[in-house]
Amino acid sequence: MAEGVQWTGPLVRKTFLDFFAERGHTIVPSSSVVPHNDPTLLFTNAGMNQFKPIFLGTIGKTEDMAQLKRAVDTQKCIRAGGKHNDLDDVGKDSYHHTFFEMLGNWSFGDYFKKEAIEWSWELLTKTYGLDPNRLYVTYFEGNPAMGLEPDLEAKKLWLDVGVPADHIIPGNMKDNFWEMGDQGPCGPCSEVHYDKVGGRNASHLVNQDDPLVVEIWNNVFIQFDRQADKSLKTLPAQHVDTGMGFERLVSALQHKSSNYATDIFTPLFEKIQEVTNARPYTDKYGKDDMDGIDTAYRVIADHIRLLSFAIADGAPPNNIGRGYVVRRVLRRGARYARKYFQTEIGSFFSKILPALVEQMGEQFPELIKKQGDIKEILDEEEVAFAITLDRGEKQFEKYAQLAIKDGQNKLSGADVWRLYDTFGFPVDLTKLMAEERALTIDEGEVEVAKEKAREASKAVKDAVQTFTKLNVHQIAELESSLNIPRPDSEPKYLKGDTTGKVQLIFTGEGFRKTSKELPPKTPLGLILDRTNFYAESGGQIADTGRILIDGVAEFKVLDVQEFGGYVVHNGYLEYGELTSGDEVICEYDELRRQPIRNNHTGTHILNHSLREVLGDEINQKGSLVDQDKLRFDFSHKTGIALPDIRKIEDMSNKYIQQNFKTYTKDVDLDLARQIEGVRAVFGETYPNPVRVVSIGIEVDELLRNPKNPDWRKVSVEFCGGTHVDQTGLIKDLIIVEEGGIAKGIRRIVAYTGDGAHQAQREAKVFDEKLGHIAALDFGPQKAADIKAAAVELDRLSISVLTKEELRTKFTQIQKEVVEEQKKRQKAESKTALDTVQGHFKEDKKDAKYYVGHLPISANAKAISDVMNYYKTKDKERTVYVFAGSKDDSVMHGVYVGTHLSSKGVTAEQWTAAVSEVIGGKTGGKEPSRQGAGAEPAKLEEAVVKAEQWLLEKLKDLSI
Ligand code: ALA
Repeated sequence: MAEGVQWTGPLVRKTFLDFFAERGHTIVPSSSVVPHNDPTLLFTNAGMNQFKPIFLGTIGKTEDMAQLKRAVDTQKCIRAGGKHNDLDDVGKDSYHHTFFEMLGNWSFGDYFKKEAIEWSWELLTKTYGLDPNRLYVTYFEGNPAMGLEPDLEAKKLWLDVGVPADHIIPGNMKDNFWEMGDQGPCGPCSEVHYDKVGGRNASHLVNQDDPLVVEIWNNVFIQFDRQADKSLKTLPAQHVDTGMGFERLVSALQHKSSNYATDIFTPLFEKIQEVTNARPYTDKYGKDDMDGIDTAYRVIADHIRLLSFAIADGAPPNNIGRGYVVRRVLRRGARYARKYFQTEIGSFFSKILPALVEQMGEQFPELIKKQGDIKEILDEEEVAFAITLDRGEKQFEKYAQLAIKDGQNKLSGADVWRLYDTFGFPVDLTKLMAEERALTIDEGEVEVAKEKAREASKAVKDAVQTFTKLNVHQIAELESSLNIPRPDSEPKYLKGDTTGKVQLIFTGEGFRKTSKELPPKTPLGLILDRTNFYAESGGQIADTGRILIDGVAEFKVLDVQEFGGYVVHNGYLEYGELTSGDEVICEYDELRRQPIRNNHTGTHILNHSLREVLGDEINQKGSLVDQDKLRFDFSHKTGIALPDIRKIEDMSNKYIQQNFKTYTKDVDLDLARQIEGVRAVFGETYPNPVRVVSIGIEVDELLRNPKNPDWRKVSVEFCGGTHVDQTGLIKDLIIVEEGGIAKGIRRIVAYTGDGAHQAQREAKVFDEKLGHIAALDFGPQKAADIKAAAVELDRLSISVLTKEELRTKFTQIQKEVVEEQKKRQKAESKTALDTVQGHFKEDKKDAKYYVGHLPISANAKAISDVMNYYKTKDKERTVYVFAGSKDDSVMHGVYVGTHLSSKGVTAEQWTAAVSEVIGGKTGGKEPSRQGAGAEPAKLEEAVVKAEQWLLEKLKDLSI
C-alpha cells in the first residue's frame, strides 16, 4: 500500500490507529495532557501514563479500562520541566519538541514480544513502506549485577522478521531498560531507529544524538515491578507498552531531514509569516541560521502547540508548578517573537492559534471547544508580560554590557534574579538571552541571590504589615506646612505602568526627603504625586508591585493605604535610593490585579442576583475582594436553600456570559442616589461626586430617566474599585460557601475565573476518584479509600452544589459498602456457627468440646455470635474458636460451657494460656472471653495450645 502514497500527518496517524484496530486493539482517546489526579507528574509525558493503574494492578474490576486487553492511541505529551525536559533543545535541533504526539499500542497481559515485534516491523516496512535498510533495532544487553539476562528473545525475533544481524545493536540499562519511575512496572525495551541518509551502515550512530539517525519507536516489554527496596519482582502478567514519536515518523515518511519541515509545522510557519511579514522558513540550524529567524519560527510553532493544549486541558499560566512552566514557555516565545519578528506583544500567539485549530482540531476537538478561552488567556498573559518585556530587555542589555566590559563571561546571579523579580523574566529566558551574548549564567548563584532576597523581605514584610498609619496631625502637616498636594490616583483605573514623582518618604514617625542614610530594608511609606496603585478600600485589597528607577532603585510595594486622600505605598527599598523629586515608574502587579478585577465585578453581579432571587431586603453588610476569592456578607434571615443557590449562581453566570461592558462615571451624589435600584452600603459616607459602576448599560442612560423601573434589572453600584471591561473575562462564578456569621447576616464566598475553573477541576478529579473507589472490590483497600475520601471531601473548596452531588454519591458508595459488610458479616456468622454445629453433629452428638480454626476472616462479630449461641441455646458445651489467617490478623474467643465452668474452669485462665502464644489482649465477662492475637503467624501453634490446655484441664479434673 505504501507505493505512491502521500503520507500527510493525518494519514500517518490514521494508518497507525487502523493497523492496530484491525489487530484487535481498541482505539482509546488521548488522555489530558495535564494529569490532574497525579500530582507527582507535571505533565503527561508518555502514552502509558493513563494506563498506570492497569500495569500497577490497582484498577477496579468494573472500571471500563479494566476490560481492555489491547489498546491503541495517539497521546498528547509535554516534555517541559520535570524529569523529561526538552525545552532547552527546542528551536535548536530538528527533532525535539515541548509538545508532541506519541503513537502507542498496548497489550495488557495479552500478546507479548513476538507479536509486538512482528507488527512493528510489518507496519514500518510494509504498511508505511520505510526502507528496511535504513532501520536499526536495539535490544537489552542484560545486567548481571542486577540479575538481568540479555533479551536474546527480542534479538532472535528481530532476526526472524528479517533484520540483518549488523542492524541489531545491544544497549544498556539507560537506553534499553524502561522504567516508569523509581517504583512500579518496568522491563527491557527494544527501540527502532531510522537513518535519514541511507546507503550506508549507520549502526555506530544509533543513540549518539545524531539528528540524522533518530529513535522513532520504543517497544517496552513490561515484566517486572520495581520495589521500594530497588529489587525487581516478576509480574504475574506481562505487558507491552510502545511509544512512537509521531512527528519523527512523519518526517521519515515525508523524506524530510527535520520534523519541522513536515506538514505538521508548515501551516504554522505560514501563519507566522502572514502575521509577522517575516521571510519564509528555510529549515536552517545553528550557524547556518544566520539571522536566527528559522530558530524563532521553530520556537513559536512549538510553543503555540504546548500553550494551546496545556490551556485547553486546564493548565493556564500562573506562578507555580505546571502553571509556571506554561508561563515560562509563553514568555520565552513572546520574547522570540518580539526580537526576531519585531512584532508587538499582546495578542501575538492568539493570531497563530487559528492555524493550529484548523490543523489539529479534528483529532483533538478540545481545541475547537476551548478556542475562545485559549485566546483570552494567551492575550491576558501576553499583555501582562508586555508591560515589563521592553524595560526588562533594556535592563538586561545594561547588565550584559557591564559584564562584558568587566571581562566577565557570565551574568551575575544577582542580576539574573533581579530580571526575574523585577521584570518577570524566567531564568531560562535570561539564560537564552545571555547565550546570544556569549554569556553564561550560574543557576547556583541565582538560587543564592533568591534566598538572600527572600530572607531580607521576610523580616521587612511583617514590619510593613503593622506599619503606622498617618494620624490627623501628620495629614495636616502634609497638607498645610509641607504643602504636598494630594496625588492623582486616576491611573489606577487604567491598565499598565505610569510614571510619578517622589514627594516624601514616611518613616512611621515623620517625613523625610530622601532614603539616604537609612539602614537597608527599613520599612518606608512612599508618597508620590501620581500613582496607579490601588489603595485598600471598599473591600478590595491593596495592590502590590514595585516603584522603580530602572536599574537604579527599586522599591517593593507590599501594601497601599490611603489616609485623607494621601496614598502611602508601604514597602522597602530592595536596592538604590529614592529622593523627593525623583521620577519613578509605578508598576502594580497586573497578574494579581486580573483576578481581583474578576472578583470585584463578580461581587457586583452576585449582589444583584441575590436581590433578584431572595428579595429586596438583601443588603450588603461587608465585602472582601482579593486575588483568590470574593466574600460577601448580607442581611438575610435564613440559610439559603440549595435550589436558590443554584438560581443565584445561574443568574450570575448568565450575566457573565452575556459579556456586558462595564461603565463608570463620577456623578453628583444626589443625582446618583435617584437611580432606581442603585446598590449602596447603608450608613456608608460616599464622596461627592460618587463613582457609579453599572454593568451592561451606560451610566448616562441611567441618568436620563433615573426612575425607570427597568434599572432594577441591571447591576448599578456606588464603587471606587477596579473592574473588568467586559463581564466575559470573569468566565465563571461559583459559590463555594454559604453560611451564617451573625444573627440575620449570611456570608457567601465565591470563586471566579481561573480560581473557579481550578475548583471545578478539583471536583472532577474527586468525582473520578469516587468512581474508582466504587469500582474497587470489597476489601480493606476500599474501606481505607472511603475513609480517606470522607476527609478529603470535607476539605474540598469547591462549588457547594457540586459538593452536595459528590456527597450524595459518596454516601451511596458508603451505604453499599456497609450493606456488603453486613451481608458478609451475616454469611460469616452463619459459616462460623455451621462449622461448630457441624462438629457436634451425628458421630459427635455427645461431644462436649470444640476447639478449632473457623474458615472465616478475623471477624469479631461472628465469634461473639457463636459465643452467644452456646451461652443461650446450648449452655453445657464448651467452644474455643479462632478466626482469620496467619498472613493477616487473628481473633479468638471462648465460651466455657456449664459442664466445665461448674468445675471452676474460667475463660480468663484459658485465654491467658493461649495469649502467651499468640500475644495480644482479651476481655469479656465469664464464662466467655474474646480477643485479638498480636502475632497472627503463631495461629496454628495457638490452636494446638488451646487444645492441650483443655486436655490437661480435663485430665486434672478427671473428666
Ligand atoms: N513508555 C515508553 C516510552 O515512553 C514507550 O518510551
